[in-house]
Amino acid sequence: MGVLGSGKGSNFVAIADAIAAGKIPAEIAVVLSDVESAGILAHARDRQIPAQFVPPGKFRTKLEEAAEHAFVAALQNAQVDLIVLAGFMRVLKGDFLRAFAGRIVNIHPSLLPSFPGLEGWKQALDYGVKVAGCTVHFVDAGVDSGAIIGQQTVPVRDHDTAETLHARIHAAEHELYPKCLAALARGEIAVAGRRVIWKNP
Ligand code: GAR
Repeated sequence: MGVLGSGKGSNFVAIADAIAAGKIPAEIAVVLSDVESAGILAHARDRQIPAQFVPPGKFRTKLEEAAEHAFVAALQNAQVDLIVLAGFMRVLKGDFLRAFAGRIVNIHPSLLPSFPGLEGWKQALDYGVKVAGCTVHFVDAGVDSGAIIGQQTVPVRDHDTAETLHARIHAAEHELYPKCLAALARGEIAVAGRRVIWKNP
């Protein structure tokens, strides 16, 4: 697997710990980030996993073409089979999606299709929903719109702030993502259009 992230890397840590514990039959070959100071790079280096900052170029929400090619090249050099987005905050476009069609997964901090885009947990809180959660899905050309692999719910409590709700969702992510990746790595996931079927739920 190749893991891409822009932030602190708590999902990366949960995944790496699950691999170390023998729960996911996979290996993380490389970690890439568009943010030089991202915690995810430090966590990877702590675990002796190759970690690289790739400058994203001049745009704020997507990669510049040269950067996209640099990401693809680094992932191909590492011979990854699956791209795992773990808090990667840029939308992936054409060449990247074509290079790894059907082999990119993402975790999003809301119950999709509600609250795609930025700060899903804050959107959920502001909307007033009573149940929130997280979603693992395949990545397609839209924003958080690919076929859903797994979801986990958490309650929204009356006194929640954006921070307390995000912390509860983060904890759910740390359970859901390793579970979904284990099923993918074991070949237990079948895709039929938008429906993702678990062979051993
Ligand atoms: C996670 O909550 C993840 O769902 C979110 O960023 C956070 C990364 O945390 N991703 C997105 O919002 C993608 N649109 P982490 O760096 O601690 O894993």
